[in-house]
Amino acid sequence: MCGIIGYTGSEDVKGVLLDALELLEYRGYDSAGIAVADTGLKQTKVYKCAGRVKDLRAICESEKLITECGIGHTRWATHGGVNDTNAHPHQVGKVTLVHNGIIENYRELIADYELESVLKSETDSEVVAALLNKFYTGDPDEAIKKTVSKLKGTFALVILFEDHQGEIYSVRNVSPIVATLCKEGAMLASDLTALCRFTNRYFVVPEYHILKLAKDAIVLKDFNGNQVEPDYLEVDWELNNAGKNGYPFYMEKEIMEQPDAIERTITNRITSGMPDFTADGVPDEIFTQCERVNIIACGTAMHAGLVAQALIKSILHMHIDVDMASEFMYSDPVIDEKSLVIAVSQSGETIDTLEAVKYAKKRGAKCLSIINVKGSSIARESDYVLYTNAGPEIAVASTKAYTTQLAVFYLIVAKMAQLRGVFSQEETQSFIRELQRTPDVMKKVLEGRQEIHKLANKVLEAKDLFMIGRGLDYSILLEGSLKLKEVSYIHSEAYASGELKHGPIALITQDTPVVAAVTQEKLMSKELSNIKEVRSRGADIVLFIKESLAKDIDRAYDTFHLPDMQDEFMVMPASVALQLLAYYVSSDKGFDVDKPRNLAKVVTVE
Ligand code: F6R
Repeated sequence: MCGIIGYTGSEDVKGVLLDALELLEYRGYDSAGIAVADTGLKQTKVYKCAGRVKDLRAICESEKLITECGIGHTRWATHGGVNDTNAHPHQVGKVTLVHNGIIENYRELIADYELESVLKSETDSEVVAALLNKFYTGDPDEAIKKTVSKLKGTFALVILFEDHQGEIYSVRNVSPIVATLCKEGAMLASDLTALCRFTNRYFVVPEYHILKLAKDAIVLKDFNGNQVEPDYLEVDWELNNAGKNGYPFYMEKEIMEQPDAIERTITNRITSGMPDFTADGVPDEIFTQCERVNIIACGTAMHAGLVAQALIKSILHMHIDVDMASEFMYSDPVIDEKSLVIAVSQSGETIDTLEAVKYAKKRGAKCLSIINVKGSSIARESDYVLYTNAGPEIAVASTKAYTTQLAVFYLIVAKMAQLRGVFSQEETQSFIRELQRTPDVMKKVLEGRQEIHKLANKVLEAKDLFMIGRGLDYSILLEGSLKLKEVSYIHSEAYASGELKHGPIALITQDTPVVAAVTQEKLMSKELSNIKEVRSRGADIVLFIKESLAKDIDRAYDTFHLPDMQDEFMVMPASVALQLLAYYVSSDKGFDVDKPRNLAKVVTVE
């Protein structure tokens, strides 16, 4: 989960490292550190602290460093608490390193190689530094190979050896590292965000290869010592896309970007009004030959899968499971060559989802993934990829990634319905026409955001809150509730309204506001009864209701009218409204909206 950077070149090294760490902070923001090879003194200096990159900047601001080479890290703590000592880089003897991942056998390594006496921190990462130092006899490649052969777990390691000034070494297993050589020098990072300022060309460091960066050269070798040509890819994101564009927080900017993002997701996948994945290289057979569909994902991406499940069940009448990726392989799932596995991930790096994809492929399933980050690990592991084209999502709380994932699912549903004879050509085109209305409908919700801001005030002081709805409304409230709890720290639970009477209604009092969604005409009357039940028990109601259903609604409710779409598309405007609610609660409470406590944007540990 941590952010990693390494740079050697002609630019100001300290500045490059600190700027990159700021861009990578969304991967973890417990602590930060850099190590620079001080050419004048011929030693590696480490600066690190618990806290944010701005705290680190303050520490090393006055330092004059004569260097062409350095590494940096932002931490999301796994082993060992959040303090200065546990922050990376870790230095043992001639070795200084940063690490992303988890070393599962670090205790055994400490015992087997008698490392205890040299360790200062509680981290598994420092154990790797100690082991490397123990095996190091002047040849970095040999020490790396020997060390890696002893490690169990996941790792992206970036290493400085004190007597190899101007060189940075790296090796990885599962945890990602991308690298590039450009006119400013050679650099590597845990993800592209940190490289985009310099170049749009990069390559993914293959697992179990040793990468050496020097100022004007990159050498990549396999473990047999054979040199390997890096496989360069191009990224089409621009850095200014990764700025806040005048918004106080990325989350607001990214919510506001959704109409454009959806446009980018769908436009090139519609030909003559029909869904078309030709340019993505996704063949029709995967949709016709499968007998069942399994969606695998985590968190918000899994919530997008739950909406798709409801749509696929009701429109295609097909067997479809949605699994939390972290549970998938341990649940002995029914997966074989008749299964179509759809993996959903913004980052494309979530380790649980990645491992689930590998498992499903071993069982013979075809894997189609819905991914935002190009060239990411899950994208590379999948048979086919549909990119969401949402652009960089920096705020930890996912917004535009979610709605663009939904948009891809609508295209998939249309394609499957057409190919499996459920929709006629006219019906498919009409479904697609409704999808094409989404950006405009979302714009209307965004125009009404000050009304939602007022509704946010109604729940600002709540300690506990419930969200209720039926059918598709329940699916989107699961996501709305996750969004609210992660950015506002209000304890929020989403319930299918009909379930309330089976237990949770015991928790409803005048101190527990209830957010309700009513967008499905056929479920409306039952849903309104459920809302009355909680109202009678004292709960204040914040209601998001489809405009055309709102005529006879009780005026005692604080209400936002969602612009009309056909019922199966109402998740789009409703999701935007719920995102805005969470955003305003968090910003009005004065929280750091983009970096909620304890979270990280990319979850690369199981
Ligand atoms: C919540 C959120 C997370 C992610 C989850 C999966 O706002 O962003 O729940 O959805 O960690 O991440 P990806 O989509 O990168 O696999």
